[in-house]
Amino acid sequence: METSDDRRKESVALVVIVVLAALSVVSLLVAFSYYCYIRNKVSKRLKNQKGIENGEKSGFANVHVATENGHQVFTFKQLHSATGGFGKSNVVGHGGFGSVYRGVLHDGRKVAVKLMDLGGKQGEDEFKMEVDLLSRLRSPYLLALIGYCSDDNHKLLVYEFMANGGLQEHLYPDRGSNADASKLDWETRLRIALEAAKGLEYLHEHVSPPVIHRDFKSSNILLDKNFHAKVSDFGLAKLGSDKAGGHVSTRVLGTQGYVAPEYALTGHLTTKSDVYSYGVVLLELLTGRVPVDMKRAPGEGVLVSWALPRLTDREKVAQIMDPALDGQYSMKEVVQVAAIAAMCVQPEADYRPLMADVVQSLVPLVKHHRPTSKVGSCSSCHVPKSPTPTVNECGKSSV
Ligand SMILES: Nc1ncnc2c1ncn2[C@@H]1O[C@H](COP(=O)(O)OP(=O)(O)OP(=O)(O)O)[C@@H](O)[C@H]1O
Ligand SMILES: [Mg+2]
Repeated sequence: METSDDRRKESVALVVIVVLAALSVVSLLVAFSYYCYIRNKVSKRLKNQKGIENGEKSGFANVHVATENGHQVFTFKQLHSATGGFGKSNVVGHGGFGSVYRGVLHDGRKVAVKLMDLGGKQGEDEFKMEVDLLSRLRSPYLLALIGYCSDDNHKLLVYEFMANGGLQEHLYPDRGSNADASKLDWETRLRIALEAAKGLEYLHEHVSPPVIHRDFKSSNILLDKNFHAKVSDFGLAKLGSDKAGGHVSTRVLGTQGYVAPEYALTGHLTTKSDVYSYGVVLLELLTGRVPVDMKRAPGEGVLVSWALPRLTDREKVAQIMDPALDGQYSMKEVVQVAAIAAMCVQPEADYRPLMADVVQSLVPLVKHHRPTSKVGSCSSCHVPKSPTPTVNECGKSSV
């Protein structure tokens, strides 16, 4: 007969067995985790070794890029090789400062390299000052400077590459080299207007002292592969060449058609001069017309003079809209954007809004925009396929 003593012994044995089994499972788990950890470490080391070997094979092992103020300092040779020797096939555009080339860095990053044709010691100092300034500006709505090269003979700026180039190429595909570009649809234009406004708002209101762009225009709004906009050349405007004629991006005057009247007349520059230029870009987005085109009918050559009297009249606004946008917008949206544009291009600087006001007015328009039933009627319009990513707002920073 089983006594209570036997039963106690049995339970003790059972407890011992369970504890031993649990200990074995725990030890097994510990051993397995340790094995995984070691395996991971070894495979990482092997990968690194492989990377170095590959680098050596492709000649990149000796590439050393110094950094200063968070920017990479390149040698001319490195940028020469990144752009295929500044080959013609890699040219993506020409501007008032020189030519821009497509390039690939040794780590595979795509970049745009601006080869500047400034000369002299003073130019070099100014260039360095600008790079210094740019290193303190950070916003998702401003084109990022990756690095630069500045030696006795060369000055180059290396920017993130914007796959869809300048806004003007898409608004006027027939004019530039990019004849294949399709016109942008209304929704994309609205979003570009907002993102560009946020870029200027950052420069004017989130940086102390404020930065005045001086050369805000559609070619200085660059578009990434999803047609998101970033403002470029905000540190360069005062470095522009004084060369007369052709592409005008002068020290005093900015670019023809975008310059606020008080700045053109007196040279008096405030953030409100940028607001005027922004208004001109809004007019380009609405009408699909360039700021100055003397080949147009009399009275229509200067975009602001032609559009301003029509912007506050509902029927007239409909008449000045880009025909490529036919049926894509609601009149309510258009009337509001036209009203913002009208305020921005007021001849009197004090009557122009702050960029923060512009942003505030555009946010609900972009947020609540619903495609109209006739969307798609413009078969040539570009409609980006990817959804709008959320972008962090930037806080106040000090310059
Ligand atoms: N980061 C970039 N990524 C892709 N393309 C670029 C980039 N920067 C410039 N480009 C292209 O090069 C063209 C010329 O740019 P650039 O800034 O030199 O001249 P601009 O804007 O026409 O005039 P300005 O010299 O007065 O600013 C742009 O219109 C754009 O198409
Ligand atoms: Mg530019």
